[in-house]
Amino acid sequence: MLLQVQDVTMRFGGLTAVDRVTFAAAAGQITALIGPNGAGKTTLFNCITGFYRPSGGAILLHPPGAETGAAPVALHRLAGHRIARAGVARTFQNIRLFPGMTALENLLVAQHNALMATTGWGIGAVLGLSRYPAAERAAVEKAKQWLQATQLLDRADDPAGALPYGAQRRLEIARAMCTSPDGPALLCLDEPAAGLNPRESEELAKLLLQIRAGGTSILLIEHDMGVVMRISDRVVVLDHGQRIADGPPAEVRADPRVIAAYLGEEEVE
Ligand SMILES: Nc1ncnc2c1ncn2[C@@H]1O[C@H](COP(=O)(O)OP(=O)(O)OP(=O)(O)O)[C@@H](O)[C@H]1O
Ligand SMILES: [Mg+2]
Repeated sequence: MLLQVQDVTMRFGGLTAVDRVTFAAAAGQITALIGPNGAGKTTLFNCITGFYRPSGGAILLHPPGAETGAAPVALHRLAGHRIARAGVARTFQNIRLFPGMTALENLLVAQHNALMATTGWGIGAVLGLSRYPAAERAAVEKAKQWLQATQLLDRADDPAGALPYGAQRRLEIARAMCTSPDGPALLCLDEPAAGLNPRESEELAKLLLQIRAGGTSILLIEHDMGVVMRISDRVVVLDHGQRIADGPPAEVRADPRVIAAYLGEEEVE
């Protein structure tokens, strides 16, 4: 088990956006988090990634490779940047790139923390120590590797803001993949297929399978049921802040509670 969400509640004043939600995301799997608009999906993501501190409950990360019996990391108590360092990366429902920087530069900035740690938080760079150019070269290499994986290598020097929408979505994923030195243990994606055409959605699905094959587990919020049903190992359904289903895609798709939650919203197909 990689991530455990236990009884997590998030309240905004009188509104309970997430209501005692429990589920687990297994290592090496794609776990989808679906539900109608306003179900609490993004709010739960914001709790997992440290943007919000949950009003109640626990969020535990069991880093892969840690010796058995090692204490899990209590994400619900950590600040956002420490959660990132623990190996949790994310993208946003609304694209957040540096539009005036090139695609390549966006991926270098994403690696900044890792790079600065290697160089003694800038001192090495100032003194021109030999480790720095090596770290910088490695950062450029990693950026290029992810530009390639997201089919953006030919756009490396274009400003991110000038890229077509689908390309910006892919760059966001590349950026998230660059935030941890060895690749994140868990990649959290908030509606990565939103606004993509069918061909782009198909490519996105392939990219996510490729990321999973590379050893990064994925937590996926997505409204595109074609993508969800095709690539997810497990599907968790939220409605009005509560978990109403949790299981393999085929089972969840046939669940009457899930169908009822989506009625008048969109088809579960
Ligand atoms: N910062 C906030 N302050 C107050 N209420 C909020 C806040 N963030 C979210 N909410 C409310 O919490 C509920 C859940 O919102 P959330 O954005 O998590 O839904 P969602 O499942 O991501 O929906 P969508 O599919 O539309 O993105 C909504 O009623 C929303 O208005
Ligand atoms: Mg949302």
